[in-house]
Amino acid sequence: MSDVSTLDIKVDRVEQSKFKPYESDNLLMGKNFTDHMLVCDYTNGAWQTPVIMPYGNMEMSPALAALHYGQAIFEGVKAYRQPDGSVAIFRPEANWKRMNVSAKRMDMPEIPEEIFIGGLQRLLQIDSQWIPGFPETSLYIRPFMFSTDAFIGVKTSDTYRFCIILSPAGRYYAKPVNIYVQDEFIRAAPGGIGFTKAAGNYGASMYPTHSVKEKGFDQILWTDAIHHKYVQEIGTMNVFFIVDGKALTPDLESGTILAGVTRDSIITLLKENNIPVEERPISIDELVSAYREGKLQEAFGSGTAASMSYIQSLTYQDETLQLKDVSEWTISPKIKAQLDDIRYGRVADTHNWRFIV
Ligand SMILES: Cc1ncc(COP(=O)(O)O)c(C=O)c1O
Repeated sequence: MSDVSTLDIKVDRVEQSKFKPYESDNLLMGKNFTDHMLVCDYTNGAWQTPVIMPYGNMEMSPALAALHYGQAIFEGVKAYRQPDGSVAIFRPEANWKRMNVSAKRMDMPEIPEEIFIGGLQRLLQIDSQWIPGFPETSLYIRPFMFSTDAFIGVKTSDTYRFCIILSPAGRYYAKPVNIYVQDEFIRAAPGGIGFTKAAGNYGASMYPTHSVKEKGFDQILWTDAIHHKYVQEIGTMNVFFIVDGKALTPDLESGTILAGVTRDSIITLLKENNIPVEERPISIDELVSAYREGKLQEAFGSGTAASMSYIQSLTYQDETLQLKDVSEWTISPKIKAQLDDIRYGRVADTHNWRFIV
């Protein structure tokens, strides 16, 4: 990682903090935000000096390009309170790199590391009291960038705004989830933007997701755009299946799946635990066969927000694959515990995944 400590930044602090000490771990992520946010504008072909300012509404033109043509991307990162009271961000460099993968595909300017990581570090230092200390809580970090030209017309914007906002997060998806395998609507197609964290990917998922929630499911497992057979990912999570002692997860070759930072971390931990990992196309038929043979042992989604979300059942067309009770699982809970131990600083950071603020 390059030196991010030399960042030129302007700080405009709130007069009075709105922080009140937390009374429980019941914090609704995404609803409440800390005192400050970081804002950095891209104008005249260059990133300007970033500003840390009081969190608040922004004024914008009704012709703002992002609202009409969707040049808008984001990231999701978390910071965790460590046993000694310090704060560690989990793998922010990976999110910075992924943000620039998204930026490139969406024809937006790449964000320098000093601004993304250096700016985030300063922001967290200023708002550090907001990082909760209850078990399984964290601070959710939302970097995002959108086009800001006030111009109606389909063209690459000349100006952009990059921001970081922070939201205290409680426990997430505590219960095992029931999943619907979607073989009608699709999330992403080869050549499209499935591998990016572009806002439009999420906009397109709302209607299908809403529809399955009305049927009583928690989330969708998307299938591929061509055959409607190969499983992709779940909501805002990558997906893993433990079949006959091996971990299977869809590969990233077709560019339709987000390269999750949690996915990458879990693959590393599985291999260290001598669990064979296969990254390859996985069809729903293969999973149904494995289930019928009693070989589909465990399944989970992985992502920054939920960490690991256990799957209780998968419904495909008329058949529901009901997995054993999570209390009987052996592999996923062990890997989740190892990942959480690293995040919360309970074990040595042998992978260099913790960025201490
Ligand atoms: C579509 C999608 N897939 C997977 C993930 C998981 O990625 P990560 O582990 O980096 O949070 C996310 C969340 O960021 C997502 O939005």
